[in-house]
Amino acid sequence: MIFEQFFDKTSSTYTYLISSGPGREALIIDPVLDHVDSYINKLNSLNLKLVKVVDTHIHADHITGMSELKNKTNCETVMGDKTPADIVSLKIKDQEFVKIDKIKLKAIYTPGHTSESFSFLMKDRIFTGDTLLIGGTGRTDFQNGDPYDSYNSIFNILLKLPDKTKVFPAHDYNGNFFSTIENERLNNPRLQVKSADEYAEIMNNLNLPDPKLMDIAIPRNLKLGGK
Ligand SMILES: [Fe+2]
Repeated sequence: MIFEQFFDKTSSTYTYLISSGPGREALIIDPVLDHVDSYINKLNSLNLKLVKVVDTHIHADHITGMSELKNKTNCETVMGDKTPADIVSLKIKDQEFVKIDKIKLKAIYTPGHTSESFSFLMKDRIFTGDTLLIGGTGRTDFQNGDPYDSYNSIFNILLKLPDKTKVFPAHDYNGNFFSTIENERLNNPRLQVKSADEYAEIMNNLNLPDPKLMDIAIPRNLKLGGK
């Protein structure tokens, strides 16, 4: 299997390229517009055909590369079916599969960070978007975020996955590449709570500044990064 993890330093975003092998179909998760050329170079160097590009949610801190990748490769654009981005070519439902040859990802609706966030499970690993971060969780104070939904998505869905499941988030700010469900359950400071109310209390008092690009990124990303 081909599994490449790209990092955007400006927004600390992780992007993932997946394929069953050279010469086969490929899928990209959470692309950043500024790096579309490097994704295309990697696809070409491995003789991969990009057929699907997925965003876990409408990002507020960078402009997605979905539209540009579609323009350049004619791939399908995929998001969960709660997305407000009308031009997505494939809206996937909770528990449905996103398929490319020899690979399938199960879409799992995990709202909380935003009301339309999905995670994607591929055998031993899960792409959690901003629902579950390494040592953190996605803020819940805009884009219809809700700390109680976040608690439910994390505690009743993601933490129920097998302990050894690898966690690949959409961001990391501390140089980590991935984690595991077990590690997050035991060590993530936000998850050491006894109730949803206790978790919501933490989330409602983070007092974070808005992302710098928010007013530009969200409207652009509703158009999948197109103008
Ligand atoms: Fe986000």
